[in-house]
Amino acid sequence: MKVLALNSSPRIQGQSKTLLMLEHLVKGMEKAGAEVELVHLRKKKIKNCIGCFTCWTKTPGTCIHKDDMTRELYPKFIGSDIVVMATPLYHFTMNAVMKTFIERTLPVIQPYLRSKDGVTYHPLRDRHPGVVILSVAGFPEMSVFDQLSNHLRFMYNVGLFAEIYRPAAETMTQPVFKEICDDILDAVSQAGIELVKTLKVTPETMERITQPICDSEVFGQMGNLFWDACISHGLTPEEAKAAGIIPRPTTIEEFLRLMQMAFNSRSAEKQDTSIQFVFSGCQEGVCHFLIRDGTIESALGETKKPDLVIDAPFDVWMDVVTGKADGAQLFHEGRYRAQGDMDLLTRMEAFFGSRKRENPR
Ligand SMILES: Cc1cc2nc3c(=O)[nH]c(=O)nc-3n(C[C@H](O)[C@H](O)[C@H](O)COP(=O)(O)O)c2cc1C
Repeated sequence: MKVLALNSSPRIQGQSKTLLMLEHLVKGMEKAGAEVELVHLRKKKIKNCIGCFTCWTKTPGTCIHKDDMTRELYPKFIGSDIVVMATPLYHFTMNAVMKTFIERTLPVIQPYLRSKDGVTYHPLRDRHPGVVILSVAGFPEMSVFDQLSNHLRFMYNVGLFAEIYRPAAETMTQPVFKEICDDILDAVSQAGIELVKTLKVTPETMERITQPICDSEVFGQMGNLFWDACISHGLTPEEAKAAGIIPRPTTIEEFLRLMQMAFNSRSAEKQDTSIQFVFSGCQEGVCHFLIRDGTIESALGETKKPDLVIDAPFDVWMDVVTGKADGAQLFHEGRYRAQGDMDLLTRMEAFFGSRKRENPR
C-alpha cells in the first residue's frame, strides 16, 4: 500500500501538534507494511488554482501551472492508495495550505456532469486515493471539527476512510498530561495499523484518540493565565515556553492548578513529601501538595504533618513562582517564613520546573 501523508501545518517539529499526531499515524502505517511518504506542504511551492479549466480542456489532466504540485505532488497523489491530509484547524476548517492543495487536484475529475440520486457530480479521470483526514484544534470540544467533517464527508463520501480529530491539542506537550498524551499518541499509531489492514479505524481506537485531556474549566483558566503571561512579557507562546515563563496565578485555586501543570514528575521520582502553604495578604488561605513517587496531588486546606510549611504573603510567593524574585533572597530578607525540611525548600524549584524546567517534548 502506498500512502502520501501531507502535513499542512506551518509549524516545525517540536511545535506542531498536527505533525506530532501525523508522525505517530505514519509510524503505525509503516509498521503494518505501508510505504509512506511524508510531505511538508510548507516547503513546497503550490500556486493557487486560477480557474482557467486548462486541465479540463487544452491539456486534459494536466494543470497550467509549472510548480511543485504539477511536477511532484499531483503524480504522487494519483499514484497513492491513501492520502492522509493532516491540517491544523484554522477558523473551524482546514488551513489555506491544505485547501490550496485540494483545489489543485481538479485535474483528477472530468468536466462532464453526471447525476445520481438527484445529485450532480463530475466523473473521475484518474484514480482518486482514499482520504484520511487528521486535524488538531486549540479548543477542547469535539464539535469544533463539525464543519470540517461535513465538508469532507460531502466532498469525498465513501472515499473518506477515516477522520482523526484531536481537540485541546496544545495541551499535548504539557508534562503533567504525559501519561494521557502517550496513550493518545499510541492510539494514533494503532489507527495507522488498522487503516492499512482494514481501511478504517475501530471505535475503541477513536475513543482513545479523543479522550479528554483535562477539565474544560481548568483548560480555560490555565489558557487565559498563559496568554496573559505572553502579553505581559511581549512574547509569543513558543518564546514564552522557551524562556520558561510561568504564568502568574491570581487566586490560590489557580496557584494549585498551575503548580500541578508545571509539576515535573521525573524530578520527583522516589520522593514522598508534603508541602503546605499558608497565604496572607491579597489572597488568604491554606493549601498543600502531596508529592509521591513522581505524582502530585493538591488541595485547599491543611494536610497532616507537612514536611515543609511556607507562610507567605500571596503576592510575594507569586513573585517567586514566576521567577520575578529570588526565593532564597526573599527568605533571607524575611519576606516569608519556612518551617520544617529546609532542604525541600531548595529542591522545590526542580519539582515545579520553573525556569530550569525541561523543554517540552
Ligand atoms: C489562524 C489560526 C486559526 C485557528 N482557528 C482555530 C479554530 O477555529 N478552532 C480551534 O479550536 N483552534 C484554532 N486554532 C488553534 C490551532 O488549531 C491549534 O493551535 C493547533 O494546535 C495548531 O496546529 P499545529 O500545532 O500543528 O500548527 C487556530 C490557530 C490559528 C493560528
